This record gives sequence, C-alpha cells and structure tokens, in this order.
Amino acid sequence: MKTDRFLEISNLVKAYPNPFGAEIKVVDGFDLKVRQGEFVSVIGHFGCGKSTVLTMIAGLNPISEGGIIVDGREIYSPAPNRAVVFPSPCLLPWLTAAGNVMLGVKEVYPHATKKERRDIVAYALSAVGLGSALNKYPREMSGGMQQRVGIARAIALKPKILLLDEPFGHLDSLTRMELQDVILGILNRDQITTMLITHDVDEAVYMSDRVCMMTNGPSAHVGSLMEIDFPRPRDARP
Ligand SMILES: Nc1ncnc2c1ncn2[C@@H]1O[C@H](COP(=O)(O)OP(=O)(O)O)[C@@H](O)[C@H]1O
Ligand SMILES: [Mg+2]
Repeated sequence: MKTDRFLEISNLVKAYPNPFGAEIKVVDGFDLKVRQGEFVSVIGHFGCGKSTVLTMIAGLNPISEGGIIVDGREIYSPAPNRAVVFPSPCLLPWLTAAGNVMLGVKEVYPHATKKERRDIVAYALSAVGLGSALNKYPREMSGGMQQRVGIARAIALKPKILLLDEPFGHLDSLTRMELQDVILGILNRDQITTMLITHDVDEAVYMSDRVCMMTNGPSAHVGSLMEIDFPRPRDARP
C-alpha cells in the first residue's frame, strides 16, 4: 500500500557556524511530507538552503534539530536507498560509463553474479539513452552524456528516493529538455519518490506533482506548496 508519509521531514533545522563562530540557522522549521511515488520540486532563491535540505535527506549533512523519516525509519547516515544526482556528475576519468555505474552497483548488490551486475548497469545506461555508449570514457562524452551517466548511476541503485540537486544546471537548454524527459520516462516506469531542486519554475511545473517554494534565508522554511494536477505522462511540449 502506498503511504502518504513516505518521506517525512519534520521541523528540520540546520545551523552553520559563521566566520565569527556564531551559529546561524540557515534552515529553520522546514516541514514537508511526501507521498510514495510523488515528485516534489523545491524552488527558492540562490543560497536559501535548498541543497542543505537535500543533503540532510541524503544523510550527507548532519541535522541540527528535527528529523527525517524515510519509509518509517529515521535517517542518520547515507544509504543507497536515497540516491543523489548533483549538478556535475564527477565521473572517474579512468573508468568507462559502465565502469562508473558499476562502482555503486558492486556496493549495493554484493551477492549478485558478474552477469547480473553487468545487466543492471546496461539496463540503467540504456534507460538514459546510453545503451550504445557503455564503453565510452568521460573525455569522449559531452556534458549532457556525462550527466546521463550520473542519472544512470543513481537509478542503478534502485533507490526508494531520488534526490536531484539542480541536475541540469550546467547544461544548455536543449540538453536540459532532453534530460527532463529522460527522468520523466524513468519515473513513468519505476515510480520512485523524487525531490528535484531547481530554480527554474517552468521545469518545476513541467516535472512535478507538487512544487514547494522555500522562503528566503536565513531561517528558510516551506513558504507555500502548490499542487500541479496536469495529467501524466507529460511529454507534450509547446
Ligand atoms: N558547510 C557550510 N558552512 C557554512 N555555511 C554554509 C555551508 N554550506 C552552505 N552554507 C550556507 O548556507 C546557505 C544555504 O546554502 P545552500 O543550501 O547551498 O543554498 P542553495 O542550495 O539554496 O543555493 C548559504 O548561505 C551558504 O553560504
Ligand atoms: Mg544548491
């Protein structure tokens, strides 16, 4: 049964020390409940604390106060059930596309056979349209292709939650539109609960079930929530 509180962020606070040693609450009282399979975008001004919230959900950034519950369990550390795609994919240059995706797959499926792992990698890369580029090295790939590998690396982990931190931020607008559809295509097949951070309102509306607008920092929190009830699949563009 699908739950309405698959990802539950309650009264989340993050305080960073400023250069004088005082603690500044960058995020203060961030509350959000996300349904299983829902796609939520978080938009807000540069520096308001979007990545701070996302890295806390990923378990990469310690929580100052409040808590995050994923599928009934409070989270304290990173885990492959929460996969992150950052603005730059940071691929290892000495590994091929398949080699880069394989790194995480080995960690998450330690008991799978070599063939099973290779199939998972090939499936993830073909899902992002790189079925024929498995053996390409990062230097042989465009920025858009490299980011496709970054997305493949995340979905190969079969995460329960996909965390996208401005994943198209460094791409030209055509590539950006292509990759938006790549992600929507994946989510049409495997309904993964997804949080997308973006400062592009059109992108948020095109992709999401709900848009969460953060207030300006410091002490940023959820300002307003907007339900986007256009039917899916949304593959029609003007
Ligand atoms: N590790 C850190 N130490 C101190 N301040 C930080 C740290 N990381 C982020 N900040 C500050 O917290 C605020 C929010 O940052 P961030 O979450 O990256 O914003 P956004 O992703 O919305 O652009 C910014 O003012 C930033 O300078
Ligand atoms: Mg950010």
